[in-house]
Amino acid sequence: MPAFTKCDVIWMNGAIVPWADAQVHVTAHALQYGTGVFEGMRAYDTATGAAIFRLDAHIRRLFASARAYEIELPYTFEHLCEASREVIRANKLENAYLRPLAFFDSHSFSVWPKDCPVTVAIIAVPGRQYIQGGPDHGARVTVSTVRRIELQTLPPYVKACGHYTNSVRAVQEAIRRGYDDALMLNAEGDVAEGSGANLFVVRNGTVITNDIDASIVLGITRDSVLRIARDLGLPVEIRPMSLTDIETADELFFSGTAVEVTPIREVDGRLLGDGNPGPISRRIQAAFFDAVHGRLPQYEDWLTYA
Ligand SMILES: Cc1ncc(COP(=O)(O)O)c(C=O)c1O
Repeated sequence: MPAFTKCDVIWMNGAIVPWADAQVHVTAHALQYGTGVFEGMRAYDTATGAAIFRLDAHIRRLFASARAYEIELPYTFEHLCEASREVIRANKLENAYLRPLAFFDSHSFSVWPKDCPVTVAIIAVPGRQYIQGGPDHGARVTVSTVRRIELQTLPPYVKACGHYTNSVRAVQEAIRRGYDDALMLNAEGDVAEGSGANLFVVRNGTVITNDIDASIVLGITRDSVLRIARDLGLPVEIRPMSLTDIETADELFFSGTAVEVTPIREVDGRLLGDGNPGPISRRIQAAFFDAVHGRLPQYEDWLTYA
């Protein structure tokens, strides 16, 4: 996996600072205990310049994640939206991956984060393919022995830094087994999602995915795919998904900001169809890429120009 490409500047605590100056002290609470929240967003080139995809939904989810951990963001929604645009402009990026991050910073070693200052940063780097195989060829996945975190311990739908040790262990196991990513089950034994993406099943022409009660992050790409599928006239079902759904699927694909719409070509050595991305995955994917690049007027309100 290649390293990210450093950019010139980062937005940090209200100011644009050089990349090298965006530093955090080793005693930061979030580094000790994982007490940060984050977003992943993409900007895409369009005929009228770079546009951030569903910026408002991402920043809204950042505020919701922060609330879950009682992190009071010292900026307004509007300020963080404008800062996201600013960091794209300042780095002269077109296709970019953005990482808004807010966390409890350095104050004490108490687990109780009282009086920890809150640091907020928005990082942007050139966008690139996230997962091996990617949208063009499709990913190979394995069903993980690592179960998704569940509501009784940590709220799975919250994008908190510490929650991602769960995904890290799953993806490490998947790569060790020779696959590109993991399919994680939830505590009930149903299929939850990938290490950083939601899962869709296609069977008999119906597009199926699970809901928030399946221990998933309620993806913004998932929401976009559901709208696209309905607009294409495809029947949609939202319900728990079992391993039987995986075994009897005609097609499977991941959705997520990082993976975009990535077909799954193989699960634990079993090919989906002939191993090439299926026709419904391809139709949804094509519409998704047309939407993010501003080629479909009906989805124009998903784009915020930098
Ligand atoms: C665990 C997990 N599930 C699903 C998603 C997909 O969410 P989104 O489409 O909003 O990027 C992500 C990525 O943010 C994720 O980390």
